[in-house]
Amino acid sequence: MMKKVTVSTLAKRAEANEKLVMSTAYDAIQAGLCMSAGIDFMLVGDSVGMTHLGYANTLPVTMADMLAHTAAVRRGAPEAFVVFDMPFMSYQQSDEAAMINAGEALKTTGADAVKLEGGAEFAPLVRKMTGAGIPVMGHIGLMPQRVQVCGGYKVVGRDEAGAEQVLSDALALQEAGAFAIVLECVPEALAKAVTGKLRIPTIGIGSGKYCSGQVQVITDLLGLQEFKPKHAKRYMEGCELISRALKQYADEVRNGEFPAPENTFQ
Ligand code: KIV
Repeated sequence: MMKKVTVSTLAKRAEANEKLVMSTAYDAIQAGLCMSAGIDFMLVGDSVGMTHLGYANTLPVTMADMLAHTAAVRRGAPEAFVVFDMPFMSYQQSDEAAMINAGEALKTTGADAVKLEGGAEFAPLVRKMTGAGIPVMGHIGLMPQRVQVCGGYKVVGRDEAGAEQVLSDALALQEAGAFAIVLECVPEALAKAVTGKLRIPTIGIGSGKYCSGQVQVITDLLGLQEFKPKHAKRYMEGCELISRALKQYADEVRNGEFPAPENTFQ
């Protein structure tokens, strides 16, 4: 029996200077595979909009989408630490709506925590959530839910003002009770400085090797989409392998090789 991973497990590993490994997962099969590969914790990211739902960005993703995918991940990995990504406009409209949505996420899916994009401006909300017993992971640097305001996906914190903003946002989220912070696409030196100033772990994506841990999108790791971001590394060429397998299936049906006697009931 695997032991349940908790916020304390993650904090202890980070204190012992063990790198934390996080991957996104969106369904029960992926969750089971991540768990058996020893991935420390899983994010059901709103990136599901692009990886599984065919959207161009994360904005159309709904609470209903996130609830269904997170519940599937929980079923596939009962002992995993699972983070529910709060979708666009599920927490920005009012603290009351945010608390109701975060509560629903934990109650109905069995998620262990929620993640939300935003810095110091969301610190009062993060404090309310943690005060009510909802563990919160912050997310600063590049915030994909703000893509339309920022005019694209860009590295954040290259200039002095931007770097100071990232650091003060990180400190505000820590003080509000966040248990960890995703740093997305900030320069490596800034990620190192922020990590050095925090007591809680930083989880980097596109932010270099000095973060306390890393998170990657599972479809990037497995090469399941044509697009490959600079920060990602493909550990297999999924598109190529799957296309080859499906083509072989189609060929074998057409030439009569499949189904063979071992695939047939008599
Ligand atoms: O939705 C997502 O996959 C994320 C990661 C990129 C951190 O937020």
